[in-house]
Amino acid sequence: PNDFKIAPSILSADFARLGQEVEDVLASGADIVHFDVMDNHYVPNLTIGPMVCKALRDYGISAEIDAHLMVTPVDRMIGDFAEAGASYITFHPEASDHVDRSLQLIRDAGCKSGLVFNPATPLSYLDYVMDKVDMILLMSVNPGFGGQSFIPGTLDKLREARRRIDASGYNIRLEIDGGVKVDNIAEIARAGADTFVAGSAIFNARSDSDANRYDSVLAKL
Ligand code: DX5
Ligand code: ZN
Repeated sequence: PNDFKIAPSILSADFARLGQEVEDVLASGADIVHFDVMDNHYVPNLTIGPMVCKALRDYGISAEIDAHLMVTPVDRMIGDFAEAGASYITFHPEASDHVDRSLQLIRDAGCKSGLVFNPATPLSYLDYVMDKVDMILLMSVNPGFGGQSFIPGTLDKLREARRRIDASGYNIRLEIDGGVKVDNIAEIARAGADTFVAGSAIFNARSDSDANRYDSVLAKL
């Protein structure tokens, strides 16, 4: 793949000025807004929901928004995120009782669908639904927090996911999430990822000058 996309995770942004943060990171060249939804149930942290997604749309953000749902149950959040303007809606298969149905609900709502794999979750969840996913998201940390270290075994899993995508013939993005930094992103790309979530690597590199706040880090990613 050579159609690489950078997806800043706004989990590490300054929530008190979120609209401006998202505007700045997109102006610096980011492609997709990665929107981490945590429910203090499926994962041990609590973040943001559809109202904040809608607020970003109302603020004027037109880039794709990639809603990463770390919630259970999944299904009743799908319509809310579709109405709030999400472009992608991805969920963890363990968090849904009916994975095929949840994928279908996402597409029926007019969004692009995806499955998310925790470090220990097997890719076999894809076996019967490759025709129903637009994105495969591999977690390279255990979900719940930003700022963790990349789990190296994820590189082999990326290669396996890349093989599955290429063999399927479908147009499916392969996204990686967790511990992506300037110094490991090239190796991650060589393993087959085409979409790179980065939270702390981007938002902790905020530049002090007012203009072009994220240009220098995005130029390196
Ligand atoms: C973790 C989230 C990630 C996280 C990535 O559960 O899904 O998107 O914010 O943060 P970094 O890039 O700091 O590992
Ligand atoms: Zn995420």
